[in-house]
Amino acid sequence: MCGIVGYVGDDNACEIIIEGLKRLEYRGYDSSGVALFEEGRIKIYKSKGRIANLEAKIANENFNSTIGIGHTRWATHGAPSDVNAHPHGNMDESIAVVHNGIIENYVELKDSLVKDHGIIFQSETDTEVIAHLISVCYKDNLLDAVYKAVEQMRGAYAIGVISSNEPDRIIAVRKDAPLIVGLGEGCNFIASDIPAILKHVRKIYLIENNETVVLTKNDVKIYNSERKEVKHEVFNVTWDADAAEKDGYEHFMLKEIHEQPKGIFDTLNRRLSSDGTISLDGISLTKEDLQNINKVYIVACGTAYHAGLVGKYAIEKLAKVPVEVDIASEFRYRDPFVDDKTLFIAISQSGETLDTLAALREAKRKGARILSVVNVLGSSVARESDDVFYTWAGPEIAVASTKAYTTQLVCMYLIGLYMGITTGKLEQAYYDQIIKELKAIPEKLKTVLKHEDKIKELAQQHYKMEQVFFIGRGPDAGVCYEGSLKLKEISYINSFAIAAGELKHGTIALIEQDTLVVALATQDRLFEKMLSNIQEVKARGAYVIGLAKCGNTEMEKQANKVIYIPDCMDEVTPLLSVVPLQMFAYYVAKLRGCDIDKPKNLAKSVTVE
Ligand code: AGP
Repeated sequence: MCGIVGYVGDDNACEIIIEGLKRLEYRGYDSSGVALFEEGRIKIYKSKGRIANLEAKIANENFNSTIGIGHTRWATHGAPSDVNAHPHGNMDESIAVVHNGIIENYVELKDSLVKDHGIIFQSETDTEVIAHLISVCYKDNLLDAVYKAVEQMRGAYAIGVISSNEPDRIIAVRKDAPLIVGLGEGCNFIASDIPAILKHVRKIYLIENNETVVLTKNDVKIYNSERKEVKHEVFNVTWDADAAEKDGYEHFMLKEIHEQPKGIFDTLNRRLSSDGTISLDGISLTKEDLQNINKVYIVACGTAYHAGLVGKYAIEKLAKVPVEVDIASEFRYRDPFVDDKTLFIAISQSGETLDTLAALREAKRKGARILSVVNVLGSSVARESDDVFYTWAGPEIAVASTKAYTTQLVCMYLIGLYMGITTGKLEQAYYDQIIKELKAIPEKLKTVLKHEDKIKELAQQHYKMEQVFFIGRGPDAGVCYEGSLKLKEISYINSFAIAAGELKHGTIALIEQDTLVVALATQDRLFEKMLSNIQEVKARGAYVIGLAKCGNTEMEKQANKVIYIPDCMDEVTPLLSVVPLQMFAYYVAKLRGCDIDKPKNLAKSVTVE
């Protein structure tokens, strides 16, 4: 969470930093600020709320500064407010700090700074500790002081530091939070993510954990924790900043929903050759490796976890190996049974989710083989994995994940198919059938998207509802969790997903007259069971929107309204059925006047525990 940007060069630092922060607002948007070296001293400006508030605050200032740091915040310690916004300074404001992460021992550090050094704190944040700590460590060299301060800090952090004592440089440190350096001509940048600086540079250093960077306008030096200089390869960004524009759509979420046929096509295309064989280019899993695996763990958070729920069905069915799916924040603390016969699959759009990263490290420590499914090239999860299966969704900007989910599902199928066929557990004919079905998905999805108006109508009828239940069986249950999450995160409606067979064990008590139930019944062999579940909720007054495959007209007799998806094999329905649910959440949120791309209390990249 939180985005940081820093610039040193000859141009107007404030403009460059604010423009970069806007590109990072997806990381947090409850307050923002900048620190600039201006007229011989550091000036800090900050404001609660969106970056537009900060811009309004400084609209009448005339800045000439050519060095500065900025921050957009997702609050952890201390409520969103002007005073808790970053940057934070030391007592005489000769040092300013921006920080993404959490300093776990900040209480202990704060106590000692107050007691031993008489420091008076302004904010409730953990970050302010860093500024004072660097200040008390400062003798005559900022880099020395930063090293001394960092030695005392525990937790996760990417920090950017400037000082009026050494106004030609930015010092930045990374530990368990993303940090990149952008290399310009006569200027250099730090940022939490590439889009922040892509307008200015394409040459990037991906900073590793426990590295410290010193940037001046003509030079970048990187040091390891022993303060030895290290060299990095330059990473050339080939994608375009335009990919992160709205392209005429009212919201990024709607644009990203519509990009799913392309995302799925691209993800398939990268791995499938014309004869249907899957190529694992760049992935070193051999036949022997796969034969050695007796268990798969899929670990992730949020939407990526929901992709894992469907992945379990796909991989168990296709590769015939037991799969356990776990929430990363649970996995890492429960001493799971993992060994060198375990294939650990981490799923993460951003590749920076701290819980997923920590779970991955835990699995690695126990000897598991790590394969990650990631959307962002060069991200932390990708770099720490043995192998990476990239999703080709393109940049996902809306906080609510859509195209990342469907491309993650594609990877689950491809991994299952590859494992099954390579180990000889999957028959060729069945393999060929699934490949054919997958190839047909992008076109079928375009048909689903054409029925947007029908979904809009349903949203119009139901947007004032107080609660919604999503029910389904088998892979449909997994999709229900995702449909429900989409609705609650962007429309703030209390929604609940449950395996349909489990309803009668308690949750059905909540169904009353006109309660909305969305019932997914795309699985042929479970269709009749679902019809019974629909009867059960209808008998208690529920209004049912059914979702079924084209041709299953029986659904019309049972449900109040029906959404149809194109006919396909049961195995691949999640790739189609989730899309009407995404659109339903989108239009309900729109009618309720919600801030769709930046829902309250959320951030796109969750880099704290
Ligand atoms: C869902 O719409 C989310 N914004 C959230 O649940 C997200 O999927 C989760 O935080 C995991 O993120 P990641 O894929 O970047 O690891």
